[in-house]
Amino acid sequence: MKILFVGDVFGETGRKALGIQIEKIRNLEKPDFIIVNGENAAGGKGITYNTAQEIFSCGVDAITMGNHTWARKEVMNIIDSGMNIIRPANYPRGVPGKGRIILEKDGVKLGLINLIGRVYMENNVDCPFQAADREVQNLRGQVDAILVDFHAEATSEKIAMGYYLDGRAEVVVGTHTHVQTADEQILENGTAYITDVGFTGPADGVIGVNREQIIRKFTSGLPSQFEPASGRAIFNAVMVTIDPVMKKAVNIRRIADYIKL
Ligand SMILES: [Fe+2]
Ligand SMILES: [Fe+2]
Repeated sequence: MKILFVGDVFGETGRKALGIQIEKIRNLEKPDFIIVNGENAAGGKGITYNTAQEIFSCGVDAITMGNHTWARKEVMNIIDSGMNIIRPANYPRGVPGKGRIILEKDGVKLGLINLIGRVYMENNVDCPFQAADREVQNLRGQVDAILVDFHAEATSEKIAMGYYLDGRAEVVVGTHTHVQTADEQILENGTAYITDVGFTGPADGVIGVNREQIIRKFTSGLPSQFEPASGRAIFNAVMVTIDPVMKKAVNIRRIADYIKL
């Protein structure tokens, strides 16, 4: 089983780059499942019906979210609509949406879980490790493989989650920092892991945002408007190969392509 996981798709630039690269990768490698983090899909923050549709029209099977889940009020129209969009599973009980989903294609089932970290992030969420236990337990026996998108800031929290789920989830990928890390590996018990997949969006800004606006904010401390940067795009993803009989990942490869749109 081959899974393509694409890091945070950011604004129009990210959506365009996603379409171009997915078409290329589908022709060359034919992944069984394509998963995309879409928390920055709409103008850099949040997701709407139209931006979700645009992502799905590229051949994406499911969208995960993160700290910008609720940034657009329109998300409330789609989060419980039956679209394959999940939000962090460790959000407080009772909030809209769901934190896990089962995808099925040609008789193969992939369980997908979204979690959010607590270190240097929102602290009004439940423990991501306890939520991981609960969600993995729920999916086990029902699916051929499990992929966890752990949307978190601290590398330590993400690495800890990788080891915590080693052998219990076939894939644990980090998202949120927008910068790809070079530590992709298969952990001892067969989990494919990377601390951060990176993002898909404007390459020449500050993690997607217009660089002058961010520099002005750092140098003046004044509140400022953030707009997506212009220029080249970067496409950041990982391709994971899983042996469904052994229930282990056998390969994880980083993808980081610059694209002129
Ligand atoms: Fe993001
Ligand atoms: Fe984020």
